[in-house]
Amino acid sequence: MKGIVLAGGKATRLRPLTKITSKQLLPVYNKPMIYYPLETLIKAGIKDILIIIAPDYSGHFLNLLGSGREFGAKFSYEIQEEPRGLADAFIIGENFIGSDNVTLILGDNIFDMDFSQAIGGFKKGGLVFAKKVADPERYGVVEFDKSRNVVSIEEKPSKPKSNYAVPGLYVYDNRVIDIAKKLKPSPRGEIEITDVNNAYLKMGELRVEVIDGIWEDAGTFESLLRASNLMAEKEGKKMGSKL
Ligand code: TTP
Repeated sequence: MKGIVLAGGKATRLRPLTKITSKQLLPVYNKPMIYYPLETLIKAGIKDILIIIAPDYSGHFLNLLGSGREFGAKFSYEIQEEPRGLADAFIIGENFIGSDNVTLILGDNIFDMDFSQAIGGFKKGGLVFAKKVADPERYGVVEFDKSRNVVSIEEKPSKPKSNYAVPGLYVYDNRVIDIAKKLKPSPRGEIEITDVNNAYLKMGELRVEVIDGIWEDAGTFESLLRASNLMAEKEGKKMGSKL
């Protein structure tokens, strides 16, 4: 299993913070944001990791993260010239993935969960997660039928069919590269991960696991602050202090 952290994008919602640095280098409590997705992959047993970054501030990522040795991992880097969409990670990462399976995590997604069983047990198809949220319209939304089978996944629907959002961690077999290459850009001009998931769903090979741990997409001021507070609370608990 290879890992990809997608840490490009424009981060317009965090301006002016992101006029002088990249979103994924901003602090979440006591660490740069990108440490969290990296640690999520490493904790899940993935040590060979491609970090995809935008051209701006790319040197800062290299200075910060280096070869990955300090993390007990091996880091490679690729530049995404334009934010063409999340599924572009598999096209940019084609050589890196080779003939392996791959887990993609978004560089601004903060989890406090252990994915080692789910990822360790992965064999074939696609595996994504679903978490109940208050604001599903910000995400890919899973529609379940009465027997909890997945009926559809819709990208940022104005009328969500459930409260279950798909968090930014996705596990696929090697066919994801070909699936991504065949995608057409959506009306917003991106090749969508939701279309990758729907391709696996159509083949009857998408598994959706409902999860209940901590997850924040730290892409807005509110969620960035929430992520910092959550991590401070967690560290505080560890140190036995009261925050
Ligand atoms: P988004 O939060 O959807 O996009 P963004 O980071 O550009 O922010 P904004 O909407 O405020 O302009 O992206 C989610 C994650 O995926 C984030 O870590 C950036 C990354 N990303 C890429 O690296 N390349 C892409 O083409 C896209 C769309 C996102």
